[in-house]
Amino acid sequence: MSREVLGFLLDAPGEIFIDATLGDGGHARALLSERPDIVLYGIDRDIEAIEFAKERLCGFGHRIQFIHGRFGEIAKKRDIPPAAGVLFDLGLSSRQVDNPERGFSFSRDARLDMRMDTSQKTTAYDIVNETSRGELTKIIATYGEQPGAGRIARAIDVYREKEPIETTLELAGIVRKAIHPATAADLARVFQSIRIVVNDELGELKRGLAGMLEVLMPGGIMVVISYHSLEDRIVKQFFVTEEKGCICDPDMPVCRCGHKPRLERLTKKPIVPSESEIKENPRARSAKLRAASKLI
Ligand SMILES: C[S@@+](CC[C@H](N)C(=O)[O-])C[C@H]1O[C@@H](n2cnc3c(N)ncnc32)[C@H](O)[C@@H]1O
Repeated sequence: MSREVLGFLLDAPGEIFIDATLGDGGHARALLSERPDIVLYGIDRDIEAIEFAKERLCGFGHRIQFIHGRFGEIAKKRDIPPAAGVLFDLGLSSRQVDNPERGFSFSRDARLDMRMDTSQKTTAYDIVNETSRGELTKIIATYGEQPGAGRIARAIDVYREKEPIETTLELAGIVRKAIHPATAADLARVFQSIRIVVNDELGELKRGLAGMLEVLMPGGIMVVISYHSLEDRIVKQFFVTEEKGCICDPDMPVCRCGHKPRLERLTKKPIVPSESEIKENPRARSAKLRAASKLI
């Protein structure tokens, strides 16, 4: 959704931009090319993404600053000057999904890993093998929104009583047996649920949105592309709340929160990719873009 991203960000007033999810640097490159006056801070928690983007974007010299880390943490530290634009393009890059060593894909044999930041301790192996059956059911139902979560958790529990579940294909096989016949969508949802927990993706998103709102200058633009309903709900909720004045319980006779509107939504409904974009890049099919500008 490069055209839409540029449509919102190109006219943002100021010279500092943040790509909070640099990935392969596609959006960063487009922004740096179209706005020769800007400096862009590119953040990614995946060191491989940072190294790849460094090579790809080396032609922009000091106009791009690379930061390895989580966007929630970095926004909190406020090491970045007030920004005119912030972009979040959430989830995984194609390179992460397609790299068999990272263990994100249910169709490629790999150790159960799924860490975006490979220096982090907790992996998918830990979640799959060490979480109680009840917790696993909750994870699969809540973060995968997957029917039959209890049956899948039970099948995992029975299998791991004999031996630990080491690989992606072992886990996929267990899910296939538990909800026979399992579709690719079922497997994707189960893997997504575990990945979300391994990387604390929803907690990160909440911290990232709140933190980057502080970093944005008045008049600055925030653009968020999400890829599943749990993410999109958080983004929508955040924008709606920050657009409101008082957020006290409606039963309160007088306002006690003192909340002031801090954002104006530029998209009341999310923008979705065109048919032709989905044809070109089927992974974009679930993308939803929301944008807002900062008021104060
Ligand atoms: C969909 S890709 C971004 C693709 C990028 N916009 C491009 O044009 O190539 C998402 C990237 O965000 C990174 N990421 C996800 N959550 C993050 C977080 N909390 N902090 C920093 N990076 C994160 C992932 O490691 C991944 O590289």
